[in-house]
Amino acid sequence: MVFKKDFLDKIINITSNAAIACYPHLGKKNKVLVDKTATDQMRKNLNQLDINGKVVIGEGELDEAPMLYIGEKLGTGEGPSIDIAVDPLEGTNFAANNLPGALSVLAISAKGNLFNAPETYMDKLAVSNDIPFDATDLDFPIEKNIKNIADYKNKDLNQITACILDRPRHRKIIDKLKELKVNIKLISDGDVAGALFVTDKKHSIDIFLGIGGGPEGVLAATALDAFNCKFQGRFLFKTDEDIKRANNMGIEDLNKKYNLNEIVKGVSIFCATGITSGDLVNGVKCENGKFITETLVTHKNSSISIVKKEVPILD
Ligand code: FBP
Repeated sequence: MVFKKDFLDKIINITSNAAIACYPHLGKKNKVLVDKTATDQMRKNLNQLDINGKVVIGEGELDEAPMLYIGEKLGTGEGPSIDIAVDPLEGTNFAANNLPGALSVLAISAKGNLFNAPETYMDKLAVSNDIPFDATDLDFPIEKNIKNIADYKNKDLNQITACILDRPRHRKIIDKLKELKVNIKLISDGDVAGALFVTDKKHSIDIFLGIGGGPEGVLAATALDAFNCKFQGRFLFKTDEDIKRANNMGIEDLNKKYNLNEIVKGVSIFCATGITSGDLVNGVKCENGKFITETLVTHKNSSISIVKKEVPILD
């Protein structure tokens, strides 16, 4: 399936509008309200698209509505069948406290091309595209991954930087990185951006690793696919409920390690609009009667760009 330019533009508007909708709620410490606002706006705009859309990566299941839930049908029903992955507000803490790094994120692909998974945690690994595929692996010890990257980049270990969420569950990994004298970029939230730091040398991140949200993993994988970077993920199904949901979605091997090409296939679009300014994109600005947004857009095999939009403020 090929996505035309005007369709791509409509998808960019969806995350851009969701980001703008958050603007009045930034820094108001109301996580629920700002999240709901982004979700409502995204749902409204997705429902205006001439697609037969279905949420395959969302926020919980039907009983957890009003979030955009897995299995939810979206669009007018007139048009192509599309799989949709959503995170209307990635970095709820950032938005509620008006801190850098909140994004509105959406990815789409033709039906059947995006991984359908319940909302659980995922163990993740992302590496830049200048490292051979076999040099790193989720199942390698940290030391091996780091040393292989250093060898291929012709760097010392103390010139390598790893990005990881700052969580107690990562204590052993962080201790190992310290022991290896690897530089660490600890992020407090927002691991879609964390994974995407490997896409561009300007972020100086050689490897992203650790456990974060599964939906965020699938979304990041969609963008990493366009950048030809490596991504691996392994869902972590802990509770009986998680396991039941996974089985219902056709996941039999609960310990399977997924490579990027098993998470996203074919042509896909990924959009991440800045809500607050961060390392990837600027946040929503309000200037001269207009909102200005910045969106990182990847269209697999066609384009990767930062798109600016200006939207007049209506009274
Ligand atoms: P939310 O915006 O849904 O709060 O997610 C933020 C986030 O930091 C994600 O980027 C990350 O994948 C996940 O939370 C990590 O979860 P936890 O905070 O439970 O470790």
